[in-house]
Amino acid sequence: MGRSVATARAHANIALVKYWGKRDSANNLPAAGSLSLTLEPLTTQTRVEVAERDQVVLNGAVAAAGPAARALGFLDLLAQKAGREGRPPLRVVSHNQFPTGAGLASSASGFAALTVAGAAALEIEADPKTLSEWARRGSGSAARSIFGGFVRMHREGWAEPLEGVGLELGAVVVVVDDHQKDVGSTDGMEHTRRTSPYHDAWIRQVDADLAAAEQALRDRDLQRLADITEGNTLAMHANAMAARPGLLYWRPDTLAAVDRVRELRSSGVPTFFTIDAGPHVVAFAPSEHLDRVERELRDLPGTRLIRARAGGPAERLDRTS
Ligand code: PMV
Repeated sequence: MGRSVATARAHANIALVKYWGKRDSANNLPAAGSLSLTLEPLTTQTRVEVAERDQVVLNGAVAAAGPAARALGFLDLLAQKAGREGRPPLRVVSHNQFPTGAGLASSASGFAALTVAGAAALEIEADPKTLSEWARRGSGSAARSIFGGFVRMHREGWAEPLEGVGLELGAVVVVVDDHQKDVGSTDGMEHTRRTSPYHDAWIRQVDADLAAAEQALRDRDLQRLADITEGNTLAMHANAMAARPGLLYWRPDTLAAVDRVRELRSSGVPTFFTIDAGPHVVAFAPSEHLDRVERELRDLPGTRLIRARAGGPAERLDRTS
């Protein structure tokens, strides 16, 4: 028998130009492109093996029905995409190596790792672009986590690494304590698309921001990249807030962190923020400024920090098997 067991690792990514809106829910196709930075050590490691029966173990415990069905349904889809009639029973064991309780979205690293390990365990050969397209079916942002560094997701539904970027950025994630349950990205996007009067303007803005952000990266123009990234995240949240009823992902400590990052930037430290569909704030900065950024964000109320650097692509960890 061939490679019936495979282990893969993938890192999360944080978008500088965000994905918020689908044009085709059934195929999970985005309404616009997006642009992200893959980040270590926000990592998921996943083993997939042919077994007696289907089973999904997440972070050491048998997964609840919902997440288990999502992972197994995704493996059905991989087999189908590869032209197989059905698939063998599979056991999936996945660990998020995120600092515990961070409350950070793990669907990007999770589905990227599951794509690479699942395809290998099912003995499916695919190039990275195809893996990226498949990963998108699990979660839109997972298409970007197939690749390392700066990654551009296309509206057509696959991602690719951005070549020729001269900037080395890392991040300090300000994890904001939160006891609310966030509205998940799929539901949040759909609700926004249906009810926000700003949604069409947002989608148009993403196209403009993508072109400008790519140019800023190639020109190593950090100031411009900072303006685009902050403007894009505020526009995404403005759009979500304008939905009826409005989606408000921020907490008071989110705003305290945003203020602090802005103060730092006005005082000459090259840092800028973004916020996903939750309360946490990510401060990007060139690697050589991250110590300073971390020091300055350390005493923010109700928060803790995770330091991250640019991460590599999703990869097999058992190539020799
Ligand atoms: O990949 P999804 O479906 O979880 O959506 C990601 C949505 C954001 O994180 C808010 C934005 C992005 O581009 O990652």
